[in-house]
Amino acid sequence: MDKITTTFLFSLFALLLTASLSKDLCHKDDANTLLKIKKSLNNPYTIISWDPKDDCCTWVSVECGDATVDHRVISLDISNDDVSAQIPPEVGDLLYLQTLIFRKLPNLTGEIQPTIAKLKYLRFLWLSWTNLTGPVPEFLSQLKDLEYINLSFNDLSGSIPGSLSLLPKLGILELSRNKLTGDHSLSLSILWVPRRQVPEASESSRGRTENLVHHMKAWMDTCASRTKIRVEGFNTSSDRLVLLRALKDLFETCGEVKNIEIRVDPVSKLIRSCLVILLGEGAKEKALLLNGSQVGGRKLTLSAVERTDGLTTSGRAAKFVADFQKNRSEIISVTGYDPTLPQEDLESVLWKHFAACGEITEITYRVSSVLVHLYGLGSLQRAVQLNGTDLGGGFTLTVPYPKREKAEAEHAIPDDITKTLY
Ligand SMILES: *[C@@H]1O[C@H](CO)[C@@H](O)[C@H](O)[C@H]1NC(C)=O
Ligand SMILES: *[C@@H]1O[C@H](CO)[C@@H](O)[C@H](O)[C@H]1NC(C)=O
Ligand SMILES: *[C@@H]1O[C@H](CO)[C@@H](O)[C@H](O)[C@H]1NC(C)=O
Ligand SMILES: *[C@@H]1O[C@H](CO)[C@@H](O)[C@H](O)[C@H]1NC(C)=O
Ligand SMILES: *[C@@H]1O[C@H](CO)[C@@H](O)[C@H](O)[C@H]1NC(C)=O
Ligand SMILES: *[C@@H]1O[C@H](CO)[C@@H](O)[C@H](O)[C@H]1NC(C)=O
Ligand SMILES: *[C@@H]1O[C@H](CO)[C@@H](O)[C@H](O)[C@H]1NC(C)=O
Repeated sequence: MDKITTTFLFSLFALLLTASLSKDLCHKDDANTLLKIKKSLNNPYTIISWDPKDDCCTWVSVECGDATVDHRVISLDISNDDVSAQIPPEVGDLLYLQTLIFRKLPNLTGEIQPTIAKLKYLRFLWLSWTNLTGPVPEFLSQLKDLEYINLSFNDLSGSIPGSLSLLPKLGILELSRNKLTGDHSLSLSILWVPRRQVPEASESSRGRTENLVHHMKAWMDTCASRTKIRVEGFNTSSDRLVLLRALKDLFETCGEVKNIEIRVDPVSKLIRSCLVILLGEGAKEKALLLNGSQVGGRKLTLSAVERTDGLTTSGRAAKFVADFQKNRSEIISVTGYDPTLPQEDLESVLWKHFAACGEITEITYRVSSVLVHLYGLGSLQRAVQLNGTDLGGGFTLTVPYPKREKAEAEHAIPDDITKTLY
C-alpha cells in the first residue's frame, strides 16, 4: 500500500470513528420527554440550551447512565431558576431516573406530581426551596429504592405518611420548614426506625447509619468527580442568557459542561455569582487555562472551587451524618439513677435503657442530672416511656416530660447542602 492510500484509509477510519463516537447515546423517548418537560416549564433559562440537534446526554442538568441501562436518563436536576410552572407530569416518563432535583425554584407551585410514582428506580428526591403545596404523598412509600427525600422549605401540609418509615433504604427524610401537622419532632426530619418496626431489615440503627454514610459517600463521590469553576469579572448587568451561552461555548472545549449556575439578585437583578460545573478528565486544568478570556468585552477571572477540609469523601460523609444527627437530636434530662456510680457505669446503664429509643448521639453530664441526646423519629416519646424504670438498689429512672428545649431555628440547616456536598 502506498503512503497516500494509507493516509487516506487512516483518515477514513478516523472519520468513521468520529462519526460513531458522536452518535447519539440518548434514548429517543428520553429526548422527547425532556423536550416536553422543557416546554411545560416554559423554557426556563437554565435549560434553554437543550437542543434537539445535540445528544440529550450532553444537555445541562441531565445525566445518562452507562450501557447497562442503555444510556437512559438517570438524573434530572433543575435548580436556581424562576420557572413559573408546576412539576410537569412527563417527569414520570423518565422511567430510569434515580435522581430528581427541583431546587430553589420559588415559583414552582402545585402538588408533588403523582406521576413520580412511576419512577421505581428513584433514589434521591430533592424538591426544596420551591413553593409546592398539598400533602407529602403516600405513594413515595412504594418507591423502595429511595434513600434520600428532601422536601424542606415548601408549603406542604397535612400529616406525614407513616408508611415512609418502612422504606428499607431511606436514610434521610427532611421535611423541615413546611406546614405539616402532627408531632413537631416529625417535621424536623430524619428517620430512625426501631428494629421491631422493620422485621425484614436486619439492620439495627447502627446498620442504618452505616448505610446512610455509604450512600452519602456515593453521592459525594459523584459530586467530587465534578470540576466547579467560579467565574468572576463578567458584566453583572449583562443578560444572563447571553452570559450562559457565552460560557457554554467557552467551556465546551474543556469537558462536558454539566451545569452553569447563574444567580441573580432578586431585587437589583444584577448577576451575583456564576459557577460552571464540568465533567471529564483534566477539565479543571483545561478550564483554568481559559483564565483571562474575554466575554462581552470583559476579562474573566476563573478559579477552581475546591474543598480545603482535607477529608476523604468517606470521612466527610461520616462527619455529615454524625453532625446531621447531632444537630437534630432531642435532649432529655434524666435523674433518679445512683449518683455515686462512676461515669462509665452510669453510661452503660443509660445505653442499656435508651439505645432502644433512638440513636444516642451524645451524653452530657450536669451536676444532678444527665442529658441524653437522642436522634430519630419518635425517640423522645419512647424515652418518656422509660419513666419509672426500676434500676435496682432502690433507684428509679425519672424521665420528665420534655420541654421543647430546642426551637426549630436552632436546628440550623445549612443554607445549601451543596456547600457540604461538592
Ligand atoms: C414569581 O412570580 C411572581 C409573580 O408571578 C413574580 O413577581 C416574581 O418575580 C417571581 N419570582 C421569581 C424569583 O422570579
Ligand atoms: C410562594 O407563593 C406565595 C404566593 O402564592 C408567595 O407569597 C411566596 O413568596 C412564595 N414563596 C416563595 C419562597 O417564593
Ligand atoms: C454591561 O451590560 C449591559 C447590558 O448588556 C450594557 O448596557 C452595559 O453597557 C455593559 N457595561 C459594560 C461596562 O460593559
Ligand atoms: C487568573 O488571572 C488573574 C489575573 O487576570 C490572576 O490574578 C489569577 O491568579 C489567575 N488565576 C489562575 C487560577 O490562574
Ligand atoms: C449542624 O449545625 C451546625 C451549627 O449549628 C452547622 O454549622 C452545620 O452545618 C450543621 N450540620 C448539618 C449536617 O446539619
Ligand atoms: C415520671 O414519674 C414521676 C414519678 O416517678 C412522675 O412524677 C412524673 O410525672 C412522671 N413523668 C411522666 C412524663 O410521666
Ligand atoms: C434539604 O434541603 C435544604 C434546602 O436545599 C438544605 O438546606 C438541607 O441541608 C437539606 N437537608 C439534607 C439532610 O440534605
